[in-house]
Amino acid sequence: MSALARREKAFALLRERIVDGGAKDLECLSVHTISSLLLEVPVPVAVPRVRRAAQAYLTRSFAAVLGQKKFSDHLLWGAQCPLEKCDRVTPNGMIVPKGDSALEYNILVLEFVRLVDTLGFGDLIRSWHVPLNVRVKWGEPTPGNLQRAHPTEFPHSDSWAGESSESVTVHLPLFGDVNRNYVTMFQPPEEFEESWLGPRGTYKEGAEEVAAKYTPVQYRPWIGGLVLMDFATLHASHRAPGARARISIDTTFVLKKEEEKETIHPWRVGERASHAALLRLGEKCFMRFPSASVEHVDVLPFQHPANLTMKDL
Ligand SMILES: [Fe+2]
Repeated sequence: MSALARREKAFALLRERIVDGGAKDLECLSVHTISSLLLEVPVPVAVPRVRRAAQAYLTRSFAAVLGQKKFSDHLLWGAQCPLEKCDRVTPNGMIVPKGDSALEYNILVLEFVRLVDTLGFGDLIRSWHVPLNVRVKWGEPTPGNLQRAHPTEFPHSDSWAGESSESVTVHLPLFGDVNRNYVTMFQPPEEFEESWLGPRGTYKEGAEEVAAKYTPVQYRPWIGGLVLMDFATLHASHRAPGARARISIDTTFVLKKEEEKETIHPWRVGERASHAALLRLGEKCFMRFPSASVEHVDVLPFQHPANLTMKDL
C-alpha cells in the first residue's frame, strides 16, 4: 500500500464515524469531503457555544486594551484594531493563555472538545496537542514574522514544527474577516512520501522542497464549518487584498491507526493530553499557566510559549 493510501484509509474511517454517529446528533446535512485527506463538518448549531466561550476568553485576554468593554466581532472589523497592542499575542498570532485568563481558557477548551466529541470519533483520538491555539491573524502579517523560522504564511504541515506526523489538524474559524483572511490548503501528489513530514528548521525550507509538489485545494473555511485535515495536507495563512483580522481555533490530535506508532519530536513530548482528560476539565483536572499578565510572550523553536501544567483536582 502506498504512503498516501495508508493515510487515506485511516482518514476514511474518521469520516465514517462522523457520518454514522456524530453528524446525525448535530443535525448536519452532510459531511463535506473536500479531498481524501480533508473534511469539513458543518456544525453551525454547535458553534455559537464555542464562540460565546471564546468571547469570554478574549474579553479576559484583552482586558488591558478593552477596559470594561466586551470583546466583539466588530472590533476586528475596525480600521484601528486596539487588540494589536496586547502583549500576550505572539508574532504568529497565538493568543497565549496566562494565569489571569486560565479559567476562561479551560472553559473554552472544554466547549471545543465537547463539540468534537459529539462528532463521534473520540475513540480514534490517541492524544491531543495541548494547549490548543486561539489565534488572531491580523489583516497583514506581523512585521518581521515572515523572516522567522515557522511563519504560518508559508505552506506547511504542523509536523515540520515538531508534532507527530500521524496527526490531524483541526481548524475552526470563529470571528472576523473569514472571507478575505483564511487558511488555504494543498493536496499531496500520488507519490507522497512520509519523509516529507519530518521536522524542519524552517517552513521556508519545506515550502521550497516539498510544497512545490502540491496542488492548491479550492476551499475556503467559514464560521460554522469545522475543518479536519490529515498532516499530509499542507496549509498556510492567506490574506486577500484589503483583508481585516480573523480569530480562529487551531489544534491537532494524533489519529489512531492500525499499526500504532506516534512520532513526536522530543521537544513536544510534554504537550499531550487524552481526549477523556480534556472532557473532564474543571472536574478532574485544570490547565494552569504560570505567566503573569504583564510578562511578554514569544515562541521558542519547537516549544509552546504557554508553559502549561495539567493540575489534578
Ligand atoms: Fe499550521
